[in-house]
Amino acid sequence: GWHDSPVTDLRAIQVVAHRGASEDAPEHTLAAYRKAIEDGADALECDVRLTADGTLVCVHDRRVNRTSNGRGAVSALELADLRSLDFGSWKAEPGTGRAGGTRRRPSAELRSLLDADAEAPDRFDGDPDELSRVLTLERLLELVADTGRRVELAIETKHPTRWAGQVEERLVELLDRFGMLWPEPGEPSRVRVMSFSSRSLRRIRMASRELPTVFLMQYVLPRHRDGRLPAGVAIAGPGIRILRANPGYVERLHEAGHRVHVWTVNEPEDVELCVRLGVDAVITNRPRQVLAQLGRC
Ligand code: G3P
Ligand code: CA
Repeated sequence: GWHDSPVTDLRAIQVVAHRGASEDAPEHTLAAYRKAIEDGADALECDVRLTADGTLVCVHDRRVNRTSNGRGAVSALELADLRSLDFGSWKAEPGTGRAGGTRRRPSAELRSLLDADAEAPDRFDGDPDELSRVLTLERLLELVADTGRRVELAIETKHPTRWAGQVEERLVELLDRFGMLWPEPGEPSRVRVMSFSSRSLRRIRMASRELPTVFLMQYVLPRHRDGRLPAGVAIAGPGIRILRANPGYVERLHEAGHRVHVWTVNEPEDVELCVRLGVDAVITNRPRQVLAQLGRC
């Protein structure tokens, strides 16, 4: 079976928690990222957007409607507005996160994740509400910096064209402040920046040549069929559908010198496909289950 494959070192495949451990906890909350770290994830994925007053926050959608009890576009809200919202309760029952929907009572499991005193009081002594509040990128960087082991970060810029470079500018400033813009000599970078926009990645590379960039692909454009990506891009980020339809693409990307980070890999068959193809990272909502499937916990 694939577990015995002599060519594949299962430890070499990075397990990246997509929006945190987002199957178990509300995506992009401190609770979801703490859970991912406890589960043993190698890296954390997050999407970033700018608030009206210029703070980078971790929110996937353009609007806050799906993942909070508020309404409106992130770009139209100030950080203080976002802080007054609850980004946790929508996940009380799976699949009930609807715009302006009724608040539901969180399940016991979720309550324990959101409860600051549960399980790991030594690792969190902050304000309990913080676990389900909007997460700033700054707070996430703090979490990563304070974690005892190496945890990497994959940061995705969303709608970068709308802000004409401001997302990247803020991102670079923040990484610089945390000493994460330039890796220690001889060390691989702890952070990488991902985007569907090659323009956004170019801006990042202009700020730091050592920050690896990931070119995300929903489908393969004709000019990328041979495995070559926009100049300067180190890592390819194909969606799993691309590999289901065209498994040979991983080899072409590798031959062109790219590492391959695949999203979003939740199904066991897809994990197995990724192992067989020798991808470098899987980005998943279920880091615990994927690590178990890889025999790592
Ligand atoms: O990790 C890449 C993946 O997150 C891209 O899609 O929509 O989940 O941000 P999306
Ligand atoms: Ca993303």
